[in-house]
Amino acid sequence: MTADPTELGRLAEEIAREAGDMLVAKRPTMSGAVATKSSPTDVVTVLDTASERLIRDRILEARPEDRILGEEGGEAPGETDVRWIVDPIDGTVNFLYGLPDWAVSIAVEVEGTVVAGAVNVPARGEMFTAVRGHGAWLGGERLRCATGVPLAQALVATGFGYGVARRAVQGRVVAEVLPRVRDIRRGGSCAIDLCSVAARRVDGYYERGINPWDYAAAGLVATESGATLAGLRGRPVSPDFAICAAPGLFEELHDLLAPLDPDRDAD
Ligand code: IPD
Ligand code: CA
Ligand code: CA
Ligand code: CA
Repeated sequence: MTADPTELGRLAEEIAREAGDMLVAKRPTMSGAVATKSSPTDVVTVLDTASERLIRDRILEARPEDRILGEEGGEAPGETDVRWIVDPIDGTVNFLYGLPDWAVSIAVEVEGTVVAGAVNVPARGEMFTAVRGHGAWLGGERLRCATGVPLAQALVATGFGYGVARRAVQGRVVAEVLPRVRDIRRGGSCAIDLCSVAARRVDGYYERGINPWDYAAAGLVATESGATLAGLRGRPVSPDFAICAAPGLFEELHDLLAPLDPDRDAD
């Protein structure tokens, strides 16, 4: 079975589109059924679960041997080096409130490296895609992130985890960042934040506590647009910390954030 990144990317896009269409059709009647997960602010709707089920079914119909990691269903083993990383709805709180910034995110990893990704934003009619080495795209438009923006003129996106202790630190960090930048955006979807770096809708992004399903696909969109995506002090991006921006701004943002010790929770 092929592991051609372009073909895998096409399948990711096709499945992300189908899941997005299903969510748009069912949201008016079904989005209200909610349970909470790690904390009262961490919600999951029946449609998060339904979307992940649809995506897993479609992947396994096409490629029954592959592995899958999804936010709602966890890790499913498989026989190949191909692993799909799925966020069935990134931006569940926006989805719940009828705000447009939620996405279906599907990445494909081969031997541990993300080679293709699709981020579908159905309420905006936008599909972001990337294939490693072949650029980042919004529909048919090639994306290149903004360059040469100094920190003081940077529009910076961020997000907040669901835990109370973590949010206390994140609030203190944002209070230090806000006076140093053009402005802050909290869009509510990590995947869209990263795609927004690629599409020049923000200049940079940082967040602690995101997971591979949040950043795998959109991280490739961002890096293929020319941005750097990494953690603090030379570490790779991980749930501990993510910073994304064009080279230059990345270092400025990093040097502002690192002394604030943002990759920890409150004592
Ligand atoms: C969340 C969103 C949000 C980010 C959180 C994520 P979910 O994902 O990406 O922007 O700040 O850290 O958990 O729960 O809506 O899939
Ligand atoms: Ca969630
Ligand atoms: Ca998510
Ligand atoms: Ca999710």
